[in-house]
Amino acid sequence: MDRMAVVKVGAAASASVCVLVGGLALTQYVVAKKKRAGKKTKIIEMMPQFEKPTVHMRDPERVEQIICGLIKGGASKLQIITDFDMTISKFAINGKRCPTCHNIIDNCKLVTEECRQKLLQLKHKYYPIEIDPHLTMEEKFPFMVEWYFKSHSLLVEQRLEKDKLPEVVRESDVALREGYEQFFDCLHQHNVPVFIFSAGLGDVLEEIMRQSAVYHPNIKVVSNFMDFDDNGVLKGFKGELIHVYNKHDGALRNTEYFKQLRDNSNIILLGDSMGDLSMADGVPNVENLLKIGFLNDKVEERLDKYLDSYDIVLVKDETLEVPNAILQKVL
Ligand code: TMP
Ligand code: MG
Repeated sequence: MDRMAVVKVGAAASASVCVLVGGLALTQYVVAKKKRAGKKTKIIEMMPQFEKPTVHMRDPERVEQIICGLIKGGASKLQIITDFDMTISKFAINGKRCPTCHNIIDNCKLVTEECRQKLLQLKHKYYPIEIDPHLTMEEKFPFMVEWYFKSHSLLVEQRLEKDKLPEVVRESDVALREGYEQFFDCLHQHNVPVFIFSAGLGDVLEEIMRQSAVYHPNIKVVSNFMDFDDNGVLKGFKGELIHVYNKHDGALRNTEYFKQLRDNSNIILLGDSMGDLSMADGVPNVENLLKIGFLNDKVEERLDKYLDSYDIVLVKDETLEVPNAILQKVL
């Protein structure tokens, strides 16, 4: 064989070895990746609630790591920051929509039929904007301000009476998610601070919590509270408006609360809107933050975005089973 031929044979042989080695490495990589993908991480594996088809996670290993951090910190380091409407309360029962705090008033006997129709029209115009998967939060922002302004003005016109709220809540179809007693009772028992941050109606929310016997002293509610005159008639709303997409500003107005909880650096955040993700913006030092999102509506269109933003996405899941399972490990 001349020199040229030897070089050619050598090159061909080393090319085959390369292909072989490369192929082997690739196969090993693919097998390892498949194993990794299929592998259930330890803590999650111990919670059968994670097997439910409603549970979605982009990165289970990250969830595993955060939950490990929460377990390590235990009760003394934990705090809960949660939305209320459609997060603590149910979105639907057997396909029938449940009311938000606002809807409880919309549907009650205290408002005139004409007002009810106007409130309904507002809902039909603005709710689709609230959940539109193609609009950014910045684009939705002015529409939400408009919705709240119009809706709250209508409520003030109705001269609602404070004394009638308990009856109105009692007669409503509101329902809290399955497992709410266990959720709130266990957080109370372990003295874990709970911050309920709602763009709903604070007075209605508090009444729901009281009637459900879970308004424990470890709970702080930040929401839109009604302002009543000396005769107990609604005359306006107190403080800055909280709507679905300005929770960032509301969170920063509550930095004093979060400063007092400086050592509670482990957080479980629960929400159902992209706007709820900024609820923990006022927390000064965050060690572990687990974001759990309920995706109730427009599921196919929004799942990807929710998976990008929330660590655990619960799709059409009307229960608190997953948060409760995590709490059982942490507390
Ligand atoms: P949340 O922050 O506790 O989820 O409460 C806000 C919800 O209330 C949000 O989904 C929009 C809804 N809402 C109504 O249902 N009716 C209304 O008139 C207004 C202004 C808001
Ligand atoms: Mg909500």
